Amino acid sequence: MSNNRQNWNSKLGFILAASGSAIGLGNIVFFSSNAYQYGGGAFYLPYFIALFVLGLPIMMLEFGIGTMTGKSFPMALSQLAGKRAEFAGWWSVMSAMFITAYYVAILGWAFGMMVGSFGSLFEPGITAPFTPFEAPQPSPSAMVYFFHLIATWWPVIFIFVIWGLNLLILQRGTESIERAVRIFVPLMWVFMIGLVIKGLTLDGGFDGIMYLFTPDLEGISEAGVWRGAFSQMFFSLSLGLGTMTAYASYLPKDADQINNSFLVSFLNCSFEFIAGLAIFSLLFVFALNPAGSTLSLSFFVIPQGINELSSSPWIVRLFGFLFFFLIVIAGLTSSISLIEGPASALMDKLKISRKRALALVAIPCMIGSVLCTLPIIVDKGLSGNGTLGLSILDITDHWVFSYSLLIVGFMEAIAIGWVLGADKLRLALNKHSKWNIGPWFNIFIKFVVPGILLTVIGTSLWSEREGLYGANVDMGSFNWLPIFIPIFWLLISLGVAFYLTSRPNPEEA
Ligand code: PFF
Repeated sequence: MSNNRQNWNSKLGFILAASGSAIGLGNIVFFSSNAYQYGGGAFYLPYFIALFVLGLPIMMLEFGIGTMTGKSFPMALSQLAGKRAEFAGWWSVMSAMFITAYYVAILGWAFGMMVGSFGSLFEPGITAPFTPFEAPQPSPSAMVYFFHLIATWWPVIFIFVIWGLNLLILQRGTESIERAVRIFVPLMWVFMIGLVIKGLTLDGGFDGIMYLFTPDLEGISEAGVWRGAFSQMFFSLSLGLGTMTAYASYLPKDADQINNSFLVSFLNCSFEFIAGLAIFSLLFVFALNPAGSTLSLSFFVIPQGINELSSSPWIVRLFGFLFFFLIVIAGLTSSISLIEGPASALMDKLKISRKRALALVAIPCMIGSVLCTLPIIVDKGLSGNGTLGLSILDITDHWVFSYSLLIVGFMEAIAIGWVLGADKLRLALNKHSKWNIGPWFNIFIKFVVPGILLTVIGTSLWSEREGLYGANVDMGSFNWLPIFIPIFWLLISLGVAFYLTSRPNPEEA
């Protein structure tokens, strides 16, 4: 392991941090809306297949190269598979920064809803008149509240609160991360289990579960369902962004990474499963209609259900508060890993202090978070994306989420599978593991994983021919955004990745 690198205090600290990274907005907000969009039962089978054929092998790879080299993602790839692989690593760092920018913006909105739970979010007759968009309604409408909230400057303040918390937790590296995840990770399990018990014991709660688990064989034949499940699995397990390698690099060299991969995946998927049960039971109990964007399910459909949970306004408020608090802490333990990945990569490459590296990552990402929360209204009918910030977020998410992670996944599988040789990684993993993985692992890393990823990327690109993403929303003078954002994302990611790759590595300098 390279000199003066930090270490986790305990294996538990690492497992809490890595599972805290995996469990986040993806498990609560994105999973349920994906599962709903793809028809509930049709989603589960592709999702579980994705876990075994894609998630576990890539997690073993990302954990494995972290402990093999004791370095963050780009430097680990560089050492094991050369400069071209390092380029993939820096691309992942840039993608992590793009995602961090909008991930924190969503957390800022969740924070706003959390504060609103004890404000006017659940107060009949108060919520509605605030909105510039809709006629006053007699009962509280979380949707109206949400759109009102994002059309104010408050979220810009909230994102600085979230950024402050992130930097506070990251300030002392593994030491302060470990302290935070020891509190937050168990807490979010307790809240989620409480929510699912409440949902399932309500009359009709089981219907949601039946919807979620009744297999829908017709749905499975659609390519989109598979694409959705594979991308969701990648994001949910925090793969393709270098975060898992950064966390693993702080472990001793003899860590059992096969066992760790199973444990972290199991914790992540169980949480996702429980979150699905909780959300779908509420959805069916209150016959809610989750039509709309990805955020709608958690940000206003579920709060609408929470509003009907009890006749006591204080119980409603408390539940609403805890629901958004859960989203905020789950998101926070993920956003710290999204920031730690790039920061540790910069520390390794440029040999700069943690403080400097954090500033280099945080400043551009904060600007991005502010852009994603800009309250300027671009769609007066709110038929599309509402505010400028939401439009920027939505278009950026489309490109980064659907392509960056998977392209990096493809490149790392090729680099390790073919350039280093999958067998070298397999032997290194087996050396310290109780269960050994057989030669099937080589076939997965060399053929199956790249083949699947290429197919998913190819079919996604093919579906782009229907029109540029976001171009159907009328954003007035901002109608250039759907073209500008993908170009900006590609140029900046590739440009910075080229620049950093071309600089000499510390050992060579
Ligand atoms: N896995 C996180 C979630 O499900 O919300 C998101 C994430 C965190 C993705 C860190 C990637 C990453 F590196």
